[in-house]
Amino acid sequence: MEQETMISMPRIGDVAPDFKAMTTKGMVQFSEFAKDKWIVLFSHPADFTPVCTTEMSGFAVRRKEFDALNTELIGLSIDSIHAHLGWVSNVKEKTGVYFDFPIIADLDMKVSKAYGMLQPNESETAAVRAVFFIDPAKKIRLIMYYPLNVGRNMDEILRALKALQTADKFKVAMPLDWKPGDKVIVPPPKTLEEMEARMADKSIELVDFYLARKSI
Ligand code: BEZ
Repeated sequence: MEQETMISMPRIGDVAPDFKAMTTKGMVQFSEFAKDKWIVLFSHPADFTPVCTTEMSGFAVRRKEFDALNTELIGLSIDSIHAHLGWVSNVKEKTGVYFDFPIIADLDMKVSKAYGMLQPNESETAAVRAVFFIDPAKKIRLIMYYPLNVGRNMDEILRALKALQTADKFKVAMPLDWKPGDKVIVPPPKTLEEMEARMADKSIELVDFYLARKSI
């Protein structure tokens, strides 16, 4: 029988819930963490498990790409700080990959509950694979939730982050499968005057007034 426990689910546009938590890099007060930067906050179900090891390694190996996007990483699972330390050092010893970003030890599940990472019909004891994209104003801009048995896609996480940042910078929207270098969507006109100007604009690739692309 499905559980109907009320769980808090943050939504796109919400301010990211604040918290104070112990991490592998010491205590973090989230409202003070990575000021003026983007943050990718992600959960994994459990330390010392295979899919999680591949995902965390993916974040670590591609860390420089997040750095280049002015983005800090912070991981989370409902494991103790000792489990995190043991896992991080074991992965480093076995594979040479070092998880050199903070990982929250959310033993009391406070953070996972506040972020809707605990989804009891999937697991009552482990967080799902969530990814929160949080902008420098600490606003949640994109959320991904994956189940326990499917690992995430690091190319898509980085693509989505670039798409968000580019959309903000150029005040445009991103079409299906957008990647850097592709044309972007010009926001549709809101008045008849804007619509007429749009129809006469030779600098954009126009399908009709509501669908126009341009290079940036
Ligand atoms: C894994 O990371 O391999 C995993 C973790 C929890 C449940 C199932 C798979």
